[in-house]
Amino acid sequence: MIDGIAKIEESYIDKIYEIIKDKNLTATVVTFGCQMNAKDSEKLLGILEKSGYSIIDDENKADFVLFNTCTVRENANQRLYGRIGQLKNDCINNKNKIIGICGCMMQEKDEVDYIKDKYKYVKLIFGTHNLYDFPHLLYETIYDIYVNNNEKTKTIEVLDSSDVILEDLPQHRKYPFKAGVNIMYGCDNFCSYCIVPYVRGRERSRSSAEIINEVKNLVSNGVKEVMLLGQNVNSYGKGLDENITFANLLNQVANIDGLYQVRFMTSHPKDFSDELIECIKNNKKIARHIHLPLQSGSDKVLSDMNRKYTKEKYLDLVGKIRNNIENVSISTDIIVGFPTEDESDFNETIDCIYKSKFDQVFTFIYSKRTGTKASTLPSISTDEEISKRFDELLNVTKEVGTKQYEQYVGSIFEGLVEEEDSVPGFLTSRLSNNALVHFKGDKSLIGSVMNFKLDECKGFYYNGSVAN
Ligand code: 5AD
Ligand code: SF4
Repeated sequence: MIDGIAKIEESYIDKIYEIIKDKNLTATVVTFGCQMNAKDSEKLLGILEKSGYSIIDDENKADFVLFNTCTVRENANQRLYGRIGQLKNDCINNKNKIIGICGCMMQEKDEVDYIKDKYKYVKLIFGTHNLYDFPHLLYETIYDIYVNNNEKTKTIEVLDSSDVILEDLPQHRKYPFKAGVNIMYGCDNFCSYCIVPYVRGRERSRSSAEIINEVKNLVSNGVKEVMLLGQNVNSYGKGLDENITFANLLNQVANIDGLYQVRFMTSHPKDFSDELIECIKNNKKIARHIHLPLQSGSDKVLSDMNRKYTKEKYLDLVGKIRNNIENVSISTDIIVGFPTEDESDFNETIDCIYKSKFDQVFTFIYSKRTGTKASTLPSISTDEEISKRFDELLNVTKEVGTKQYEQYVGSIFEGLVEEEDSVPGFLTSRLSNNALVHFKGDKSLIGSVMNFKLDECKGFYYNGSVAN
């Protein structure tokens, strides 16, 4: 069935190409949210490129602008509306300009209705479950504009679920030397604050053969580093015919010849096994970085969040990871202002940050998401109290993170050179532990692996120098 669908979608790409090939059209995809969305955007861009669009970066100039949305917090929604609002005049002046919106936010009916009502110039809407059908939906839009002279107002198709995942779509990769690889889709955890299980659907793992094959292909095309992607990679394998754990898969990927390094994201602490710690410890091709979202340090709040671990269990896990994996860095996500959080709960979180010695913390103010379990809970704290906690959280994470970074000043580490820095003549490289090093170098070095001396700690990055 999948092969049949792939052929149909490819035929739409050919049809679009026939319509637009002589028109010199440009397209851009604007990505909000997580690594998973960034990966989807590479697929969307790949389809656009193959359909005959030139890819550019400027949403004001592009003939086709696709917003790949996130809805994990309310402010992501507000940012989207700001951006599409700014394009209104361009659309009035150019009837052929297409604005499309896809991604997680489009799985929410209220948002789609709002866009239909308030942003009439948006011409194409689809969701997370029919990304594979983008060539078909784009064809309908293009056909209407260039063949039927804009008779139809919109193409909208959002599905509640789907078994179809097409992996063989063309891709437009941002970096030639590193790539994300989806190993699973969706999430079954239903943390009480989180909308992801509702907009991304149930957990589905890809077969290990397919994943290994994809990584081998990437490596033969010059990719040095892959990031295995999933909302909860530690439960990889559930529901597959083969008997495989995430640690097995990680080991197999790491052992692929020619691959320099493998990373993964995201781990749920409740499923982080000893087998996985052992596997990372024993395989130097697995990056020394673990993203382990804590969310809160209070047992009461963790239970209300449905996280299925306690502060003690989390700290035990961090201890085990740090004791076994040399030079490992641990990053985390923390939410302040969950409805049942009071001052003493927050203090437990702060205590946990000091005890875990997080290298990096991503901090969020709780955002109520309609449809989630937590959305029915009244908040026991005022906005002012929450904002004060947030400020304290930022100060503590900076203090703890800087101390972690400082311990390596003067040492030499290997890193992969990723891109030009904002300062001319300087480049940025990423170490195995995910820390960034800014150094002076020629851009021909981008994509190479080099040794760096960490000369100076600048908080969350280093100034360094090449030490080859
Ligand atoms: N409010 C605030 N932060 C949230 N996150 C997920 N849902 C919410 C929400 N409703 C955060 C969590 C998660 C990260 C990706 O986003 O910390 O780990
Ligand atoms: Fe959301 Fe929890 Fe699933 Fe992460 S594990 S995506 S926070 S429900």
